[in-house]
Amino acid sequence: MAELPRPRYRPRRLRRTAAIRALVRETSVDTDRLVQPLFIREDPRMESAIPSMPGIFRLTMDEAASEAEQLAELGVPAVILFGLPAEKDSLGQGAYDENGVVQEAVRAVKRAAPDLIAMTDVCLCEYTDHGHCGVVRDGRIDNDASLELLAKTAVSQARAGADLVAPSAMMDGQVGAIRTALDRDGFEETAILAYAAKHASAFYGPFRDAADSVPRFGDRRTYQKDPANLRESLREIALDLEEGADIVMVKPALAYLDVIRAARERFDAPLAAYSVSGEYSLIKAAAERGWVDERSVVEETITAIRRAGADLILTYYAKDFARWRRERRA
Ligand code: PBG
Repeated sequence: MAELPRPRYRPRRLRRTAAIRALVRETSVDTDRLVQPLFIREDPRMESAIPSMPGIFRLTMDEAASEAEQLAELGVPAVILFGLPAEKDSLGQGAYDENGVVQEAVRAVKRAAPDLIAMTDVCLCEYTDHGHCGVVRDGRIDNDASLELLAKTAVSQARAGADLVAPSAMMDGQVGAIRTALDRDGFEETAILAYAAKHASAFYGPFRDAADSVPRFGDRRTYQKDPANLRESLREIALDLEEGADIVMVKPALAYLDVIRAARERFDAPLAAYSVSGEYSLIKAAAERGWVDERSVVEETITAIRRAGADLILTYYAKDFARWRRERRA
């Protein structure tokens, strides 16, 4: 029998040892690119555990402060804060209360960990009794009336000490309105991380359990964008940059890697991706059953989001990731 042809190219040469693999690795993930979302409850009697997000808790103000210290100590650079108010109303007044839950949480976090970057979500849905992200008028979400309240919310958060505000309501013109209001009140150094391409996604389910923010009527499809559209995402990002966004975000992450890649190629601004609650819960549920290895799957997914083009990643796994990295180095 004739001798079999021997391969001319041998990619395996560079896979031979861990050191060689590390030398040629194209994408790296570090703790310093991760942002940990935190839920803060105003009412200490509110349930702490979130059934659909094992390992994530609704924190009291004191717990949030201690969590901030731990995150800073682990090298996680940033948190994004979500407030769970004791009471909700039709105008979401808790969102722009100078002493509201998220404003107090920013102060508590900054006192506990002054160097930790404090980001705040700018939206009304956690604070409205109808669960929508804007003002409801005649059964519809009134865009321009909502802008006023979103701008007020952002300014109150900046006044409390937020380093970045992150508008997520998907109202048209929200970034421009917030930029103008911040500048007018002397907060020209407060940056805007815009949830620019935020899709109407079922992956937000566990978050809405956590925040009790399921819309009481209809859904969010008249403001959050259609998951089927890619060009529209790029258009949304372009508009937010024009309006003054400093960082733009794609959300969710894992089902939208193509959007992240396209945004990376088209725009030079820093790009964030939000690996949302449902992405966390999916991995968690399978890991709890022993069906997948949690650490490996988390490492692989965060790497994939980086490889697609995200500079920074918001993930409920930020703290675990930092801890796992530290253990590995020890
Ligand atoms: C507020 C907001 C939501 C999320 C971030 N900001 C909920 C929503 O739009 O329904 C979702 C985050 C997650 O699922 O982890 N509008």
